[in-house]
Amino acid sequence: MYLKPMRHLFALFLCLSALTAQAQTPNAKLPKVVILATGGTIAGTGATSTTTVGYTAATVGVDALIKAVPELQKVARVSGEQVFQIASENMGNEQWLVLAKRVNTLLAQPDVDGIVITHGTDTLEETAYFLDLVVKSRKPVVVVGSMRPSTAMSADGPINLYNAVITAGSQDAVGKGVLVVMNDQINAARDVTKTNTVTTDTFKATELGMLGYVVGGQPHFYRASTRKHTFDTEFDVSKLDALPPVEIAYTYANVGPTAVNALVAAGAKGLVHAGVGDGSLPAKVRPALSAARGKGVIIVRSSRVGQGIVARNGEANDDQLDFVVSDTLNPQKARILLMLALTRTTSTREIQRMFYTY
Ligand code: SIN
Repeated sequence: MYLKPMRHLFALFLCLSALTAQAQTPNAKLPKVVILATGGTIAGTGATSTTTVGYTAATVGVDALIKAVPELQKVARVSGEQVFQIASENMGNEQWLVLAKRVNTLLAQPDVDGIVITHGTDTLEETAYFLDLVVKSRKPVVVVGSMRPSTAMSADGPINLYNAVITAGSQDAVGKGVLVVMNDQINAARDVTKTNTVTTDTFKATELGMLGYVVGGQPHFYRASTRKHTFDTEFDVSKLDALPPVEIAYTYANVGPTAVNALVAAGAKGLVHAGVGDGSLPAKVRPALSAARGKGVIIVRSSRVGQGIVARNGEANDDQLDFVVSDTLNPQKARILLMLALTRTTSTREIQRMFYTY
């Protein structure tokens, strides 16, 4: 007599257990995205909700970052690793090599679909470009930061992280190179730069243009970078534990040769000259650069302007001086390509080819 209600109760119990299990088990159909945390403002905390300057970067751990955005669980199977916990002004060659090797190891795993790297915004474009040249995979790698600390009113970190994870898990982002996703916009690592010291719309590829948007929970791509990247480069950092020393000498009105000479004396194997205008060389600097080249240092003429091509044999006779031009790379990105180029060759002809390829 009591058997029928008992059976109903048991069926209800089974149903509820299945539903609970479903709610707890990550959906195996969702892409698997690994978040590698390195610090920065996205992991920063301030004294009050209105503290948007004068806060402390790199204090919140990766687990807390993930927990703060429960919506991530609906768009990907996310896991996190704390690779570093630093403000990005302290990012350098050593950290890049560690990060690149970890990214390559993870992406070689068949079950990993994409990577998100949380990063301070100050050198974010440099890390993104370095990875763009050395990651050996078509799988998406997205670098993300925020301009406001996690404790701020209208913090931009959570939505940026959410959009980055969506992009890293998307088939549409496969083969597009390393991407920077912030402020609902997708930019290519090569072309993006930080354009404003504090505003949330700071990352732009000002003239070459962004690749697309993340809107309505999905990336929308409208263009792609034409320069070779990731799986299609000749650079291999798997066996490297250091990069050749390459420095930047900045030019301004009244500049003399002191910085160039000091950098060469300190052992630079390459120098990027952040010239004025179209990479112009002041009369007081040109002989120092030429002498450096005579000692075997590779000189790349770039420009402090930040947009436009530095034309070969334009403002200087590069053929005669045996210099290389940076094309559209800004000085900080030219430094990265020159370091990697020097791991392969010291031929200026070959290095110039690389600057027109990547
Ligand atoms: C940093 O680059 O680590 C601090 C600044 C920021 O993330 O916006």
